[in-house]
Amino acid sequence: MTANSKPSPPPVDAAGFRRLEHTGWTEVGSAYGDAFGPLTSQATAPLLDAAGVTAGTRLLDVACGPGYVAAAGAARGARATGIDFSSTMIAEARRLHPALELREGDAEALDLPDAAFDAVTIAFGLLHFARPERAVAEACRVLAPGGRLAFSVWDVPERALTFGLILQAIAARGRMDVGLPQGPDYFKYSDPDECRRTLAAAGFRDVQVRTVSIGWRLPSSDALLDNALRGGVRTRALLRAQTPAALEAIRAELRRLTKPFESEGALALPAPFVLAAAERA
Ligand SMILES: C[S@@+](CC[C@H](N)C(=O)[O-])C[C@H]1O[C@@H](n2cnc3c(N)ncnc32)[C@H](O)[C@@H]1O
Repeated sequence: MTANSKPSPPPVDAAGFRRLEHTGWTEVGSAYGDAFGPLTSQATAPLLDAAGVTAGTRLLDVACGPGYVAAAGAARGARATGIDFSSTMIAEARRLHPALELREGDAEALDLPDAAFDAVTIAFGLLHFARPERAVAEACRVLAPGGRLAFSVWDVPERALTFGLILQAIAARGRMDVGLPQGPDYFKYSDPDECRRTLAAAGFRDVQVRTVSIGWRLPSSDALLDNALRGGVRTRALLRAQTPAALEAIRAELRRLTKPFESEGALALPAPFVLAAAERA
């Protein structure tokens, strides 16, 4: 390393990280939608538009969770399929959308034929994959030539304050190095250049990346933290690994950090996301 270069990131423990994610998403199940549905479902229409989904589109929604994007695609008349590796998440999606085609499966090794879809969406999934570039390559494989992929990830923590402030509070009053299996950088694809590189390397062309401004209204700072503790996975694991005293200090720090965003008895936080879309060459 030279004096000016950034330190290289710690090596990814792909197997350990995948286990953490799989166990987490299986435990969380229906609690995820209650906690984060009002936030992530705001990305549904922009994603469907970017993927060119209209009546008759063969749509695959990868890491579908409770099925927001797949269900909205079906409402547009698309032939929509949702896939997720969490059995409890698929059970929740089936409960909410009994008519939807849903299946359990891994984004990094799709059990689906080549060129079978016109559109693939991945809403806030990439930042949870142990090998995100494999999932992008798999999306490319199952798309017909000319088919479109659209994915969303959170913007950098300095702008997506919903997660940024929690991470800031942990860094200030708790510990970040709690021995969790190392995953890829949570904000890797917040960088438009990284999106372009990964999509081009997988066989996509005409890559477009933009930031979409959305926000999240919550009753309080404590509700923000409790949502992360109840319905998340990466942040939840980090929070759960803190000592009880540190967790209380983090809660107090978060109340302080969120003060400027309180108005009329509620909290309104900016939560911009990066939307990347491209066409299969
Ligand atoms: C943050 S949630 C997003 C859910 C939904 N797309 C939304 O926008 O609310 C991430 C989802 O990715 C799923 N997931 C994580 N890793 C996966 C993998 N390797 N294969 C398939 N699904 C995965 C989780 O089970 C979870 O449902």
